[in-house]
Amino acid sequence: MSKTMATPAASPLAGRRILLVGPNLALAVGELLKGAATESAALERLPQAFAGAYDLVLVDADAWEAQALAGAVEALAATDRAAPVLLIGERLPTTVVRPLMRLTSSDVLEAPFSADQLAGAATALLASAQPAPTPSAPEGGSRCWAVSGAVGGAGATTIAVEIATALAARSGKDRSVCLVDLNLVDGAAAAYLGAQPNMRLGDFTGAAERIDAALLQAFVSPISKQLDLLASPRDPEAFDTVSREAVLRMLEVACECYEWVIIDMPRHRRTWTLEALSGCDEVLVISELTVPALIAARSLAEEIETAVNGPAKPRIVLNRLASRMFGPAPSMAEAERALQRKSDGGISSDWEAAAAAANLGGAIAQHRPKSKIVKDIAQLVDRFAAAARQPGAASQRAA
Ligand SMILES: Nc1ncnc2c1ncn2[C@@H]1O[C@H](COP(=O)(O)OP(=O)(O)OP(=O)(O)O)[C@@H](O)[C@H]1O
Ligand SMILES: [Mg+2]
Repeated sequence: MSKTMATPAASPLAGRRILLVGPNLALAVGELLKGAATESAALERLPQAFAGAYDLVLVDADAWEAQALAGAVEALAATDRAAPVLLIGERLPTTVVRPLMRLTSSDVLEAPFSADQLAGAATALLASAQPAPTPSAPEGGSRCWAVSGAVGGAGATTIAVEIATALAARSGKDRSVCLVDLNLVDGAAAAYLGAQPNMRLGDFTGAAERIDAALLQAFVSPISKQLDLLASPRDPEAFDTVSREAVLRMLEVACECYEWVIIDMPRHRRTWTLEALSGCDEVLVISELTVPALIAARSLAEEIETAVNGPAKPRIVLNRLASRMFGPAPSMAEAERALQRKSDGGISSDWEAAAAAANLGGAIAQHRPKSKIVKDIAQLVDRFAAAARQPGAASQRAA
């Protein structure tokens, strides 16, 4: 883009969060961005330019191939929660402008234009912006399940993702399920789902009370119409810098907003772990079929049972069962001997499906719907959801 301009008197964008989609935009728009919090991104990011996360999105139409840009705008429009978008450039093809008009708030500005024209268009879009939509509070109270691996790599994240996806499909209601990745340092749920992690709890360490439903929406990465994700960008310091209050407040608000909250729990105990677990209706300890993992699962389940003053007796779920395990195979009996109890569920092994979904970005239920994993998860979800040991426990966390 080759647009240059004089400085407007006062930048209407000061203090606003602006996403710049186009490598030359910062330079071209220049002084207009003074005082604004800007972020530059490639086109792949446009479908996640949500109201709440950004006040305005500036897109350089000349920087992208029209078909690709049209596709990204369409994907953003399909989410129903786009931030206002201003498309500028010398070429504004109708293939791009048409989907743009489907956004709640958008405008186009053909180059060349003056600084005042640009400032005027930006100001009008900011004024027309709707507040970020928040999910409505669940009528029957929310239900919260935590998933924790007994050992590293047991499959906790995979199972949490599939449970959340299965519940979203069962519920069918818009924004009914939230998957929360509490592995704040190096959570993988966003990568498994091919989403951009947006949760920045560190900014609220001394101000947890400022986390409310509207703010939570700025943290959310939408996965589907029914499913949202709360996950943090990688941060090696996060367990030290994010306060207990911020984590617990975020969970409390999530439980006020969503019918189902599924937590991918870190294996090692944090200052907030027991309190978070005590608010859960179900705690799932995921093990694999090795003796060390089974011993760890038993210990973890016992620890949680002893320490947590909550409704949920942890359930042990065995993951990556090979087909021979389903009969009266000795290894299953051995597993339950090592656990000194019966397991509460089993998930089949299907490496191809698990790897394909992880590589494509999305749930196994989406990419390999016929996988045995999907069938087993559906059964597990039906069984645990029907059990409803103490509905609404999660929503009483704050009490
Ligand atoms: N039922 C299954 N069948 C085949 N592969 C599986 C299954 N469940 C998980 N996997 C695979 O096992 C690996 C570890 O899974 P995952 O990341 O979910 O484990 P985790 O317990 O969350 O690990 P971490 O301790 O790193 O958090 C991944 O490659 C995943 O695709
Ligand atoms: Mg994990």
